[in-house]
Amino acid sequence: MNQKLKTSIAFAKKLFTTGAISETSRAVEIEICKFIPTDRDVVIVEYGMGHGNITREILKNITPNSKVYAFEVMEDFCEHVRNTIKDDRLIVVNDGAENVKNHVKGPVHGVIASIPFSFFSKEKALGIIQDSYDILEDGMYYNQALYTKHNFKKFQQIFDDCTMRKISSKIPAEYLYDCRKVVR
Ligand SMILES: C[S@@+](CC[C@H](N)C(=O)[O-])C[C@H]1O[C@@H](n2cnc3c(N)ncnc32)[C@H](O)[C@@H]1O
Repeated sequence: MNQKLKTSIAFAKKLFTTGAISETSRAVEIEICKFIPTDRDVVIVEYGMGHGNITREILKNITPNSKVYAFEVMEDFCEHVRNTIKDDRLIVVNDGAENVKNHVKGPVHGVIASIPFSFFSKEKALGIIQDSYDILEDGMYYNQALYTKHNFKKFQQIFDDCTMRKISSKIPAEYLYDCRKVVR
């Protein structure tokens, strides 16, 4: 059985935690990393690492002295990534995005997320977005991949500049929210 199929089965078994039955598309992996600064050392936070497909793309984009804190609630997904991605820049955090401030003090230079917001309460969702805003350096982005447009308003409530892009029209469609902190 190939790895993509194994990942799909692992996601489907925990559908109410993962919110997906397969990994995000290659187009999302590339596009979600578009705003990561590549010209200096940075700290990037990832929410919803899964089996590490986007994590690998983040690591490709950052400098040798940068760091990635990758949050994932599923212990076995963390174990999988620890066994398959050997990179000193990666810190796997087996905890929820809602606890980001317990692990990362900031400032951070990008938040890259594919967590299933549609399964979160409004309070939990807004808490994650606000905490992310607080730890981001001015001018930096929170980029969120989702299968729905419906959570965009929550990001607009907190972030200064937000745009939404449709990345693929496959079913379900994939959207990227690009949200920038701009302290005026
Ligand atoms: C849609 S999958 C995305 C996985 C992978 N990054 C991708 O692009 O295919 C969402 C992931 O978020 C994880 N997750 C769910 N709630 C979370 C939370 N509160 N904090 C961190 N990760 C969470 C799930 O276990 C799952 O691995």
